[in-house]
Amino acid sequence: MPTDLQLTALDPVFREHPHDVLDRLRAEDPVYLDAPVGRLFLTRFKDMKAVLADRSLSVDPRKAPDTPRRRALMQDVPPEEFQPSMLLLDDPDHKRLRGLVSQAFNQRSVDALRPRIRDIAEALLDALADHRSFDVIAEFAAPLPILVIAEMLGVDPGDRSQFKRWSDARAHVLNPARTPEQRAELAAAGQGLNEYFARAIDARRGCRGADLISLLVDAEEKGDRLSAREIVITCNLLLVAGNLTTTDLIGNGVLALLRHPSQLAKLRAHPELVPNAVEEMLRYDTPVVQVGRFALEPLEINGREVRAGQPVTCSLLAAGHDPAVHPDPHRFNIERADTTHLAFGGGAHYCLGAPLARAEAQIAITALLKRFPGLRLDPQYAAKHKRVPVFNGLEALWVCAT
Ligand code: HEM
Repeated sequence: MPTDLQLTALDPVFREHPHDVLDRLRAEDPVYLDAPVGRLFLTRFKDMKAVLADRSLSVDPRKAPDTPRRRALMQDVPPEEFQPSMLLLDDPDHKRLRGLVSQAFNQRSVDALRPRIRDIAEALLDALADHRSFDVIAEFAAPLPILVIAEMLGVDPGDRSQFKRWSDARAHVLNPARTPEQRAELAAAGQGLNEYFARAIDARRGCRGADLISLLVDAEEKGDRLSAREIVITCNLLLVAGNLTTTDLIGNGVLALLRHPSQLAKLRAHPELVPNAVEEMLRYDTPVVQVGRFALEPLEINGREVRAGQPVTCSLLAAGHDPAVHPDPHRFNIERADTTHLAFGGGAHYCLGAPLARAEAQIAITALLKRFPGLRLDPQYAAKHKRVPVFNGLEALWVCAT
């Protein structure tokens, strides 16, 4: 049976063929005890849905038993000094921090942003007008979400290459096997982001705008129990959380279309299918492959006992391919009637940016297909996935424009 790193993209076989092992686990041992790390690894949709909604499981590593994995997540900061973002906080702090920014990410606010997202996508495609072949990731899928969130936060989109480097380095927070070099990059990116946002926050003190940083500074000054440090941490999270993930959604989605010409043709003929196609992309090749929790008290999952303190990993990728929910789960079908997935998690920590990610992907895919009617995979291209645990995305996606 596989264990720990063999169940992440650090393992070359899992990285390129995850479903061989996930299907086997789901069929033979859906609440699998990954003994060397003591965690339970879930592969059934139903179990994960229940776990994500269950408040007797926590996200806060300070409440977990002291293990190397926990220390890695906390970057070796002592628990009393560790200051998590909402992603790693339970209520009431989680609710307070999420509540302050949630309005900016709701469906209405995101719908109002759509024309601007479209302009950004079109401008990126304009720059590719004379290219016969290009890398969809580097030229389109990576810059788009960074430019959008930079504008929402009110920071200079011109700093986008720096944001991209910081976001990529921060992904190693979720890599328990990071090398000393990656560890140094992670720390430097954390410091760079903190200093960058501390300056941006100071600049807002005298002069508010209509951006998200101004909204948070306003909340702090109105006494909404928000500390200056929490504003920095929240800005870091917002800048980083949606970048790799949305890039991977667009990249994985375009790859799936180019590998399934009949689906691509159908989408070109019926652009109204784009929203459903994006849900199918989220299900089929989920960008965030797993999320973790640990039990605050003894409980049971699908008849298996869970000890207090025991870590539980939900394989969101496996959830999207559970035959009990999706008939013929490994088939990519943009007209699938039920695209239910857990790609955005579930329960209290359900992705705050889901409406934004959906809008970006829908707009990006529509614009790309319209601009390049002959888009196809570069015959020289061989898909290679990134070697980072938790995220599932391509290193590059080379296409021919005609
Ligand atoms: C396709 C793109 C995206 C995917 C697949 C994705 C996935 C996820 C998942 C699975 C979680 C839950 C983590 C957990 O339960 O432990 C989450 C949380 C979160 N996401 Fe996303 N995300 C995406 C885009 C975005 C964007 C664009 C933003 C904002 C700019 C964003 C902001 C957040 C935040 C703030 C949380 C924490 C919510 C909380 O703890 O209450 N995400 N995301």
